[in-house]
Amino acid sequence: MELPFSESYRIKMVETIRKSNLEERQKWIKDAKYNLFLLKSEQVFIDLLTDSGTGAMSDKQWSEMMLGDESYAGASSYYKMKEAIFNITGFDYFLPTHQGRAAENVLFSVLVKEGNLVPGNSHFDTTKGHIEFRKAFAIDCTIDEAFDTTCNHPFKGNVDLEKLEDVLKKSADKVPFIIMTLTNNSAGGQPVSMENLRMVRQIADRYGKIVLFDSARFAENAYFIKLREEKYKDVSIRAIALEIFSYADIITMSSKKDAIVNIGGFIGMRDDELFRQCCMFNIMFEGYITYGGLAGRDMNAIAQGLYEGTDFEYLNTRVKQVEYLGNRLMEFGIPIQQPIGGHAVFVDAKRFLPGLKKEEFQAQTLAIQLYLESGVRGVEIGALMADRDPITRENRYPKLEFLRLAIPRRVYTNNHMDVVAVALKNVFDRRNELTRGMRIIREAPIMRHFTIELDLV
Ligand code: F0G
Repeated sequence: MELPFSESYRIKMVETIRKSNLEERQKWIKDAKYNLFLLKSEQVFIDLLTDSGTGAMSDKQWSEMMLGDESYAGASSYYKMKEAIFNITGFDYFLPTHQGRAAENVLFSVLVKEGNLVPGNSHFDTTKGHIEFRKAFAIDCTIDEAFDTTCNHPFKGNVDLEKLEDVLKKSADKVPFIIMTLTNNSAGGQPVSMENLRMVRQIADRYGKIVLFDSARFAENAYFIKLREEKYKDVSIRAIALEIFSYADIITMSSKKDAIVNIGGFIGMRDDELFRQCCMFNIMFEGYITYGGLAGRDMNAIAQGLYEGTDFEYLNTRVKQVEYLGNRLMEFGIPIQQPIGGHAVFVDAKRFLPGLKKEEFQAQTLAIQLYLESGVRGVEIGALMADRDPITRENRYPKLEFLRLAIPRRVYTNNHMDVVAVALKNVFDRRNELTRGMRIIREAPIMRHFTIELDLV
């Protein structure tokens, strides 16, 4: 008999989590203006708001924390991180930053100018925010299949090469770089194929353009390439990662995802001149170039995390847990983005709540209902996150409204996943009674979903 699947680690430290009752949750969510970001974490039972900075560090990472020095300039931890980045990505120039969006801020301060167009697969909200803040435009060229949640394309994160080339044909002079987000978070944690990355490189070369990879979940992307791209089935995750990165000129990484740390990020570069220009902004915004807003101990933990995050057994445990939750939801007939993503299950809120208008924010309504049902916190990836159009100031309604259930790395068990699945099933069973959506009371001009205040319609 084949041995059943199990985790590739054991658990050495635990944190108590607290259940609550409906009455408490009704009060807490009202006090939080129906914005799940404004809840206290103690008011949440199972927290699937994000997989970012919420992972459990390993014994080796904690011991690296103790070894990390606190030097301002030239810390040994900086060199340890530099070596790990070189080994895993092949990039020899790097700047540490306090997290992913900080890397975007530093890099875009050099590269993005007013009126620029930045095409790619779906831009993450902070990436889009940093582009639009500079009065430039993010152009989503993701393949159409990604917007049909029932379509089982193996690489829904891919960019549509024709859409991409169209932007370059019409306005190459306005394009500072092409960006590829690995995995494609906003489309459902969907991977990009190696073939697609190779073609993007070719197009970029034809137009003399820089290629930037937003690499927050590059290891999960490499895992899917190994499983789904025939040619790579016997290639190691590390070798796949090195090939992925060989197609990029620059990378940004939020290390809070696939490097399994609570804080940290970086920019990887190959060009000496770009590195020098970024150094100035790193010093202005982040800290000195050898720590970039991080303590030495954080850089040590990132270095160790980069190795652990690219271990096949770990990735298999990780992605299989996400798949477990997705499969449970599908057994209940709940509509989700298929295939199941790498870091999260994306529930299709438009199909879940077809009776509710998009103007009443279906995914946010669903997220609130799941919280009320069980104390499980997910996040809206829909119209609230999409912000208003920077020119018309009208609400932008994306093709898909998702409730994302992002799973922290090495934190929850499959029993927790069962609770989440049954809680959502209970909401699904009473979906026809859910006729009241949400309306906006107060919002910020960019990245509004983090602090937005809402009320029931
Ligand atoms: N790029 C991607 C693809 C991301 O998913 C994130 C963050 C960032 C960049 C920014 O990194 O948070 O370290 O500043 N994503 C988190 C999420 C917040 O919940 O998906 P950061």
